[in-house]
Amino acid sequence: MPTLAPPPPTITSRTLSRQLDLPTVSFFGRTLEEYTRFFALDVAALHGRAVLDVAAGPSSFTAEASKRGIDAVAVDPLYDRPLSEITAQVRQDYDRMLFQMRAKPRLFRFKSFASFDAAETDRRAAASRFLTDYEGNIRHGRYVRASLPLLPFLDGAFDLVLCAHLLFIYAARFDFEWHVEACAELARVSSGEVRIHPVCGSDGKLYPELARLREELSTRGISSNVVKVDYEFFNGATSMLILNPEET
Ligand SMILES: C[S@@+](CC[C@H](N)C(=O)[O-])C[C@H]1O[C@@H](n2cnc3c(N)ncnc32)[C@H](O)[C@@H]1O
Repeated sequence: MPTLAPPPPTITSRTLSRQLDLPTVSFFGRTLEEYTRFFALDVAALHGRAVLDVAAGPSSFTAEASKRGIDAVAVDPLYDRPLSEITAQVRQDYDRMLFQMRAKPRLFRFKSFASFDAAETDRRAAASRFLTDYEGNIRHGRYVRASLPLLPFLDGAFDLVLCAHLLFIYAARFDFEWHVEACAELARVSSGEVRIHPVCGSDGKLYPELARLREELSTRGISSNVVKVDYEFFNGATSMLILNPEET
């Protein structure tokens, strides 16, 4: 007798209202100022250092950091697209995401922004700075097309590696093994630290496999810590995961 797979969990309107509806990974981005808060960054200390932003989307971290003398590189699977297509993607995903935010206000906390309007203005400014910089720098290697869990860089190529709003948020789309491989790859290309934010899903609950993930990374020589940050936009998104490749 063939074994029957268990039925998929029932998705009710009650379940959906407790999380964002994310059928695809959104091309949505934030400013350097917002990165500074959810990654607890000291931007002045990054001057002259090599920083990689993975799953950077239309965030303006790399554009703004480069202007401040930081050797910043951004990675995203969509970075081989022409400006017109990237601009259209921003328009579509921003409308979809901002609509959902306003439709599900209970999922958000206004600690970092006074209102949805303030958050929208800031994120649209991020996309606009990104699009200007992308147009000018796509040919110079600042924006690299790649997808986790495989990055086209040498071991330890960057002093600091950042990854925001991809791991854990899309845990229904990427399984546990993917998360292990993605974390190990982020750690491989860092000679210092990896910072990942948030450590919860869009329902605000801590990633349920976090302990197992940290244990698995530890067997690969990667130590980790969960650190509180002075930031909250998604309810419960108040911490980052720090990975440290152990020195050999
Ligand atoms: C929600 S955006 C986050 C943008 C930015 N990090 C921020 O926090 O503002 C997620 C990004 O992950 C990218 N992405 C999707 N799958 C990916 C993968 N396998 N590896 C790296 N990036 C991926 C998407 O194209 C999208 O731009």
